Amino acid sequence: MLRRNEDIVILAIETSCDETAAAVVVNGRDVRSNVISSQIDLHTLYGGVVPEIASRKHIERINQVILEAMQQAEADWDELDAIAVTYGPGLVGALLVGVAEAKAISYARKLPLIGVHHIEGHISANYIENKELEPPFLCLVVSGGHTHLVNVADYGVYEVLGRTRDDAAGEAFDKVARAIGLGYPGGPKIEKVSAKGNPHAVEFPRPRVTEDAYDFSFSGLKSAVLNYLNACKMKHVEVVQEDVAASFQRAVIDVLVGNAMLAAEQYQVKKFAIAGGVASNGALREAMADACRERGISFYHPSPVLCTDNAAMIGAAAYYEYRAGARSGWDLNAVPNLKLGER
Ligand code: KG4
Ligand code: ZN
Repeated sequence: MLRRNEDIVILAIETSCDETAAAVVVNGRDVRSNVISSQIDLHTLYGGVVPEIASRKHIERINQVILEAMQQAEADWDELDAIAVTYGPGLVGALLVGVAEAKAISYARKLPLIGVHHIEGHISANYIENKELEPPFLCLVVSGGHTHLVNVADYGVYEVLGRTRDDAAGEAFDKVARAIGLGYPGGPKIEKVSAKGNPHAVEFPRPRVTEDAYDFSFSGLKSAVLNYLNACKMKHVEVVQEDVAASFQRAVIDVLVGNAMLAAEQYQVKKFAIAGGVASNGALREAMADACRERGISFYHPSPVLCTDNAAMIGAAAYYEYRAGARSGWDLNAVPNLKLGER
């Protein structure tokens, strides 16, 4: 591998949900390999992620995925400076596979171990393709498990301004997709059929949490869709899948963009980023780009492959943790409900 003396080369591992992933990242922004082994086909059979199956598949795949990442990067083991791994939040059994693997490699190769917060990883995915992006900025993190509005004050310094009170945005996509017969994973399927639908066909609510202006709530919107489907059934009215999908997607986007811009105006930010699986949604990206442009704010987003779970983003986050002196001990454990900003 081509490396200069001052380079920091990190092997990163991510196994928090249903993707077994490993990547080699140099200086936090230069991705030399990004291998992702998805289990989606397997979980699709059951309509969602089955935790036991996820853990077992991670065990089967992890060594191969790491070797592929090392080979694609043309990296030797003695060129590495640290091993990074997601230790939370996520599925405990799935996280444990990555944590145990990372500890074993770091012990055997005498390399520092860096435990990384999964959401910090999602946010840091923005650094990879936007070389000029530096904190401070605001970031909307929208994934299957999380909906967070975060003030990124500095590298590794996060203030959560708002979060979902119930379902995460991606979870709402997945549940509504199942209800209208699209199956798992819901987000990409809803996006695809929405392109053929009318977003104004059904007026779904745009739920706002009034006490904590930056908080989100999506369970009411999901119920509104279910109620609409039930009402159609009772009245023997045919459901137009494309229209329901497009109207639901538009409602989610309005809520996300509404909260995001409220925060952007009150914090008077110049930069706004999005991250997480739902951030790969083209309609959301367009709406955010328009809203930011109107306000003179620079808008950042990772490309789709870096929005959904991957290890390159963990390597990016780990680099800044490494520079700040963060090192994990052998007692590093999986923390399924780890909060952002906690250790
Ligand atoms: O970040 P991610 O891969 O995993 C978690 O950390 O949760 O996000 C997965 C979520 C799923 O709920 C999936 O339906 C959603 O992201 N998603 C999308 C799209 N692609 C993935 N939602 C809307 N539109 C998409 N194109
Ligand atoms: Zn994720």
